[in-house]
Amino acid sequence: MPPSRSFRLNSSIALLLAVSQLISAAIVSWEPYLEGHRDSLQNFGNFNGRHIAKPGPGLHKSRPVVDVNGNTIPNYDVVYEFDQLIDHNNASRGTFKTRYYHTWEYYREGGPIILLTPGERPIDVPSDGSLSMTNTSISGAIAQATKGAVVMLEHRFYGESNPFPDLSVDSLKLHTISQALQDFVYFARNVKLAMPGGDGEGIRPHRSPWIFVGGSYAGALATFIMEQYACLTLIKCIPQSY
Ligand SMILES: *[C@@H]1O[C@H](CO)[C@@H](O)[C@H](O)[C@H]1NC(C)=O
Ligand SMILES: *[C@@H]1O[C@H](CO)[C@@H](O)[C@H](O)[C@H]1NC(C)=O
Repeated sequence: MPPSRSFRLNSSIALLLAVSQLISAAIVSWEPYLEGHRDSLQNFGNFNGRHIAKPGPGLHKSRPVVDVNGNTIPNYDVVYEFDQLIDHNNASRGTFKTRYYHTWEYYREGGPIILLTPGERPIDVPSDGSLSMTNTSISGAIAQATKGAVVMLEHRFYGESNPFPDLSVDSLKLHTISQALQDFVYFARNVKLAMPGGDGEGIRPHRSPWIFVGGSYAGALATFIMEQYACLTLIKCIPQSY
């Protein structure tokens, strides 16, 4: 059964919002997660056809970061590591460490995982992650509105997420869109997140919605993921333009 999809493209503000309805053994739609919360997304561009403004300049950095129960959780700048396959076409080539930021400030069990990548720059440039994880970012705002968690994953070959210690021609043969897309899918299927329940099956893409958010190159990745892996992974995509 193919996934049903709907696209909204508003080129005048260069914002592409693409939400796919995805199919798996269990169908999990992310729309219900937004019920009652649409207004809180009003400040972030064009959402579900409504014109809304850009995030303000003020960075909301709550430190210490607390979860929905008031418990202190790790700060936004804690770096986590994931063992990623070097070559998705040949798993026996082993793994390398990819870095990611993660917060579950707004997460409640069953909520979605908002996955983003800065694309072609390190996760810690220009900031410590808080720019993309608090509710002053669209990823954080979606997390707050949907009771979701946020993960910002470094793209292979950028920052410190290097499959190889060099940038030789042979190494760069694995710097492809296809490998990058599979990185996100493999991550969603295998990562053990630090948040409560983050090491269980409940967060896997066949059980919980994964919402992929990205701008520019990462926005293109979001579209490619939706096109190529939607029916496999339940990753849901919102390409974003900054
Ligand atoms: C897969 O990788 C292993 C380990 O590097 C290598 O020995 C093997 O030849 C590779 N297989 C293919 C089909 O390339
Ligand atoms: C972020 O969330 C806090 C409450 O946690 C709220 O006071 C603030 O207005 C929110 N900021 C934005 C930009 O939505």
